[in-house]
Amino acid sequence: MSEKPIAIVTGGGIGIGAACCRALAREGFRVGIHYRSSEDQAKAVLAEIGDGFLLQADLADIDQVKEMVSRLKETVGGVDVLVNNAGVAVNADINTMRIEQFDAQRAMMRGTWYLIKRVLRLFMLRKNSGRIINIGSVVGHTGNAGQIPYTMEKAALDAFTKSLAKELTGRNILVNSVAPGFIDTAMTEILPEEIQQQILANVPLGRMGEPDEIAEVVAFLATRGSYITGSVIHVNGGLYGG
Ligand SMILES: NC(=O)c1ccc[n+]([C@@H]2O[C@H](COP(=O)([O-])OP(=O)(O)OC[C@H]3O[C@@H](n4cnc5c(N)ncnc54)[C@H](OP(=O)(O)O)[C@@H]3O)[C@@H](O)[C@H]2O)c1
Repeated sequence: MSEKPIAIVTGGGIGIGAACCRALAREGFRVGIHYRSSEDQAKAVLAEIGDGFLLQADLADIDQVKEMVSRLKETVGGVDVLVNNAGVAVNADINTMRIEQFDAQRAMMRGTWYLIKRVLRLFMLRKNSGRIINIGSVVGHTGNAGQIPYTMEKAALDAFTKSLAKELTGRNILVNSVAPGFIDTAMTEILPEEIQQQILANVPLGRMGEPDEIAEVVAFLATRGSYITGSVIHVNGGLYGG
C-alpha cells in the first residue's frame, strides 16, 4: 500500500475537479479520481498526475456510492482527504421546472451526504484524522434566477459543512466549503453569452475564474489551514464578499 496520504476528488475528470486532482497530486497525495461519465478525461488526468487511481460511480445512486466506498476499503484502505466536487446544475425557472428535474438535483445532495457518512465511518473516524472539503457555490448565498433547486442544494451543502464540523468536535477532522463564483468550465460554457456578460459586469476582477484558482484554495484546506473548520471560503473575484 502507498505511503502517500490518499485524497479522493469526486467529479475529478473535468473542470474544477480535474484541477483539484492536479493540485492535490502536487501536494504529495495519491489521488483517487472519481468520475461518472467522463472516463477518457479521468484517464487523461491520471496519466498526467501519475500516482493515482480511478473510481467510477453515479453519486445519485446510493448503491453505487456504497459499492465505491467498499472498493476503496479493499484497495487503498484509507482516505485522508475527501473533496466533494461533483455537481450538476439543473436550470429552469419555477414555472417550467418539472418534479423530476428537482429530484435529479436532490439526488446528488443525498449521494454526497451518504459518501461523506461512509468515508467518515470507514476511514476518518477510525483514524481520528481527516479533511472534508465541499464545493458549494456563490449562488447558494446570493440566490440565482432559474436555479432554485441548485441554489437550495448549495446553501444546504454549506449548512451541512457547518453542522458536520460541530458534530466532529474533538475528532481532528476538519470540514470546510469552498464557494466558487463564475468559473470557466463546461458548467458555465453553456450559459448564453448575454448572461455571461451580465455576470461578468458584477465581478470586480473583470474576468471569469480559472479552475486552478479554486483548486489552490482546496489544496490549502487539504494540507494547511489547521485552524479552519466549519467555514465557507469564497473564491469569486469580488462578486460576493460573504
Ligand atoms: N463553474 C462554475 O462557475 C461553478 C461555480 C460555483 C460552483 N461550481 C461547482 O463546482 C463543482 C464543479 O463544477 P464544474 O464547473 O467543474 O462543473 P462540470 O465541468 O460540469 O463538472 C461537473 C462534475 O460533476 C460530476 N457529476 C455530475 N453529476 C454527477 C453524478 N450524478 N454522479 C457523479 N458525478 C457527477 C461530473 O462527472 P462526469 O463528467 O464524469 O459525469 C463532472 O465531473 C460543482 O459542484 C459546481 O456546482 C461551479
